Amino acid sequence: MKITILTTFPEMFTPLHTSMLGRAERAGLLTIREVDIRAYSKNKHHNTDDAPFGGGAGMVMLAQPIVDAMRDVQGEDFRGRRIYLSPRGQTLTQKKAEELASEEELILLCGHYEGVDQRALDLVIDEEISIGDYVLTGGELAAMVLTDCVARLIPGVLGCETSAETESFSSGLLEYPQYTRPREFEGLTVPEPLLNGNHREIEGWQLTEALYVTLKRRPEMAEAWLSGRKFSRAQKRLVDAVLERVRQETQEPADEARNSEPG
Ligand code: ADE
Repeated sequence: MKITILTTFPEMFTPLHTSMLGRAERAGLLTIREVDIRAYSKNKHHNTDDAPFGGGAGMVMLAQPIVDAMRDVQGEDFRGRRIYLSPRGQTLTQKKAEELASEEELILLCGHYEGVDQRALDLVIDEEISIGDYVLTGGELAAMVLTDCVARLIPGVLGCETSAETESFSSGLLEYPQYTRPREFEGLTVPEPLLNGNHREIEGWQLTEALYVTLKRRPEMAEAWLSGRKFSRAQKRLVDAVLERVRQETQEPADEARNSEPG
């Protein structure tokens, strides 16, 4: 997959070329390229922004350098998706990342200041994506988040295929807790089922804990997972036990309060 990032701050992207993604690039699984929008500015001082029509605070990014950069980068018969990172966009989800991972090429546009001239978006952008309901100073960090989360879905990038398998086993749930050596740390021990080498027992524990943490922290997510799934008899027993554990825990404080009421 090829990901090109149009930005006025290309120096911000060093982290994308290190660690797992750096290794994936060296292995030829992925190409990440930053393109400096400023280099396309036909303005005398290579400006990339100007004051907004209608007044107001801040500056707006000029359409010309963005449109020229995009057309140069995308070439003749571009097949892929051109995305503008913006808090106005559709929120990035794992499902969206999976959809984008199947594209041959992505071009990401990073905005700055108060935004981008709408005509640039109308002319050369296919969709807007937000990484969450908060506002960053620019689209660069959002482009890095999107790139990382899409790139790890490309086969071979994670380096070990079982990582993807593990995800499908409990996909739609939050991650179960993980442990490594030593077996005991500051008096805290590793849960017994993880130590005995019985794979069925380990998977049962992992499913149980993933469901438990999801029910506690993201009940709506657990609900969706539970309703869209068929369970074997053994899995059903595990699921029922977790539901009972959470039910008891949520009841306990109410019971305690009732018991301590006077009279
Ligand atoms: N640019 C500024 N804030 C953003 C956000 N939340 N998501 C994507 N791009 C942004």
